[in-house]
Amino acid sequence: MTQPSEINLLAAPHVRSLHAYTPGLQPKESGWVKLNTNENPYPPSPRVAEAITRELGGALRLYPDPLSSAVRRAFAQLHGLAENQVIVGNGSDDVLNLLVRAFAGGAGRGVAYAMPSYSLYPVLVAIENGATVEVPFTREMTLPVEALARSEASLLLLTSPNAPTGVGFRTAELEKLAQAFRGILVIDEAYADFAEENAMALVSRYPRVVVTRTLSKSHGLAGLRVGFAAGRPEVIDLLDRVRDSYNVNRLSQAGAIAALGDTGYLADVVARIKRTRAAAEAGFRARGWFTYPSQTNFLFTEPRTADGRTGPDVAKACYEHLLAQKVLVRYFGSHALTRNFLRITVGTNAEMEALSRAIESWPLTA
Ligand SMILES: Cc1ncc(COP(=O)(O)O)c(C=O)c1O
Repeated sequence: MTQPSEINLLAAPHVRSLHAYTPGLQPKESGWVKLNTNENPYPPSPRVAEAITRELGGALRLYPDPLSSAVRRAFAQLHGLAENQVIVGNGSDDVLNLLVRAFAGGAGRGVAYAMPSYSLYPVLVAIENGATVEVPFTREMTLPVEALARSEASLLLLTSPNAPTGVGFRTAELEKLAQAFRGILVIDEAYADFAEENAMALVSRYPRVVVTRTLSKSHGLAGLRVGFAAGRPEVIDLLDRVRDSYNVNRLSQAGAIAALGDTGYLADVVARIKRTRAAAEAGFRARGWFTYPSQTNFLFTEPRTADGRTGPDVAKACYEHLLAQKVLVRYFGSHALTRNFLRITVGTNAEMEALSRAIESWPLTA
């Protein structure tokens, strides 16, 4: 009989040493206040369920449109782009994966990203057996334009606004980076609808800029798995060559078109989340907790004890207290710039009140 170790030996060496991405917890039972994975607390546009219902039944017999052409067109129209400047993926994670697959092994020194940012990036690069170049942020979280440009990577993955901090970057800064960096600059705009500015206009001005978006956050469709990349047709063509032929299923394509069409619903939901965010941000600061100004649907805040202590032990203790109260937030203990903090998704007003009550009951709180 083949032993597991022999099976391991049959895998490529870089696959043997891979560590999979750790997603946030998705509890199975009810009763949780779930503020850990930046989902939208509100349901998607009702038009999405109508469109998906129409698609159910006989149509499921047939493969979906391999190009997701109608979805590409809908997204392109919204952003003043041509259809051949857009690709659709099974979530933006899929699109990021295609970018790494296409460009990680190209001319340059591998794939660069700033730290801390979205923790999936190194995993995607490891899957391709690519080299990584990590460029550190400082606690101020300003964009290290020159260091990123100097990375000489073939691909640069930049989250804007950043995660897990929520800090937004000025388009003018991103434009400086687009001018100075010689590789493909990917601006991951998963949270752009909650931000003051976005970089979509750079796609038409700079041939090596790609902007990615998702329906998972502002549109409340994390479960549908639809994401986008916008770039020059030459870039999109390369991504199409490395994509699964049917990477977006029929129901997701139908739902995506409906969601993109309901711009009024999107604006209402985003406005509600921003109001709740402002109140929660003020609440943390009133407790004396340092909190980065957020341009996303989450807050990155540094718990502080009544006697003024902060640090990894304090943040971890706060996380565990909240967990015991069935309030789920995210703690990233592995990086010096994240381990004093908690990342907390903006929920409904009622969920944020439950969070406040749970914090009030923390024995170390003021
Ligand atoms: C910065 C960033 N990019 C991309 C994603 C992935 O989004 P999707 O659900 O579209 O795969 C996330 C999800 O948390 C994210 O935080």
